[in-house]
Amino acid sequence: MKERLVIFDTTLRDGEQSPGAAMTKDEKLRIARQLERMRVDVIEAGFAAASPGDAEAIRTIAETIKESTVCSLARANERDVRAAGEAIRPAARGRIHTFIATSPIHMEKKLRMQPDQVVDAAVAAVKLARQFTDDVEFSAEDAVRSDMDFLVRIFDAVIKAGAKTINVPDTVGYSIPELWGERFRTLLARVPDADKVVWSTHCHNDLGMAVANSLAAVAAGARQVECTINGLGERAGNASLEEVVMAVRTRPDVFGVETGIDTTQIVAASKLVSTITGYPVQPNKAIVGANAFAHESGIHQDGVLKHRETYEIMRPEDVGWTTNRLTLGKLSGRNAFRARLGELGIVIESEEQLNHAFARFKELADKKSEIFDEDLQALMSDEAVTPEVEHYKLVSSRFHSETGETPNATLTLTIGGDEIKTEASGSGPVDAAFRAIESVAKSGAELQLYSVNAITTGTDAQGEVTVRLSRAGRVVNGQGADTDIIVASAKAYINALNKLHGVAKLNPQIETL
Ligand code: KIV
Ligand code: ZN
Repeated sequence: MKERLVIFDTTLRDGEQSPGAAMTKDEKLRIARQLERMRVDVIEAGFAAASPGDAEAIRTIAETIKESTVCSLARANERDVRAAGEAIRPAARGRIHTFIATSPIHMEKKLRMQPDQVVDAAVAAVKLARQFTDDVEFSAEDAVRSDMDFLVRIFDAVIKAGAKTINVPDTVGYSIPELWGERFRTLLARVPDADKVVWSTHCHNDLGMAVANSLAAVAAGARQVECTINGLGERAGNASLEEVVMAVRTRPDVFGVETGIDTTQIVAASKLVSTITGYPVQPNKAIVGANAFAHESGIHQDGVLKHRETYEIMRPEDVGWTTNRLTLGKLSGRNAFRARLGELGIVIESEEQLNHAFARFKELADKKSEIFDEDLQALMSDEAVTPEVEHYKLVSSRFHSETGETPNATLTLTIGGDEIKTEASGSGPVDAAFRAIESVAKSGAELQLYSVNAITTGTDAQGEVTVRLSRAGRVVNGQGADTDIIVASAKAYINALNKLHGVAKLNPQIETL
């Protein structure tokens, strides 16, 4: 029997630390639901002490998610551990992940603490965390640059205090596989009662070796990998979940472990995270890149046609690729629509939501004769990004663009229920549309990112637009999809404004939009 490798996803915590990847509570919940559907073992939902918004998001995820363990990060101090404990309280299974830095440079320059004080703080944090849950994880931040004797000492102390998982992070992405594997072998041999806890690896990708280092740790005995969807994360990112999972699945001869992941949910998770964060996936990214299974050279194509395994070590459908599968058309009914959504793992919460989504599907089918799975996913993700209260709403639009003339946009919006007509010129129709919206919304927000992506192939494909706005230190990503990319752009801008408005309402100290 193969041993179980625990998959600990930190997209919602370390992943959110990527610049501009801040997520709203609803967005985090949508990702958490997809992670649960994918059967991730542990979801690190955030860092409760960081802000009331973070704590609230963790609490909501803890209330909703039933199949995965829900975890909050906490520094090794009383305030953080209590905040984490409160946030995970509603969880069916909750974990507190407490950490403190253990490298000489971090202890001396950042913490300004003596090693003895660091051990005492770690032990106290673990003991306090155990008052909230039996499932306590301890991390030695910057373990990669920590002294081995000190790591052995602190891990021994926190295991005695009740930690059940010991995480060894390469916080700065400095290691290489041979050394990282060696570090685990030494720890497993030297730490008393090492066999009573789960050893975990957490690698950053600064030298492009996060996945290789994580796998070296697994080969050396680690039984939990901390990772993120699409490798999202601080600086160059974290180890990518999809690469780790598919590596151990494809090479059981090397690793001899198995995960509980439903790999057919991987592509959907990747697309969701990319759409919500506005971080595109590079086409040649392993597993989830658009070209990951494309064979271009004649020799390869010939080989694959004769026998798939000549050039394919994994099957695209095993990770959830559905090659532009024609799904539904204009004449498809509500039942077919609902059934296909179910097959795609999209949950419809109510009859009202179904009716609304179906009406939008019919509108799309009028514009686009063939509806693919990707269109349905975009449509439903558009449904889900619509905030409960739409302060700003697009009613209608007209764009004018002609050689030799200045592009112009005329839009009708509702703002707080009042209908307003607005018009502006710009360097292009998208610029004109944004100026027109801004001239009446007067948000003062700064546009940080504008990106367009075609959802399927063909010139009638829907364009999916992400707009990142920042205001008063708060960053939001708005999304919009439409067969007309100017309309999709206007929708994305308005969606971002609604999110800023929602944030301002929750935090009145941020001037209301
Ligand atoms: O990279 C790191 O060290 C971390 C810890 C908090 C686990 O993210
Ligand atoms: Zn990290």
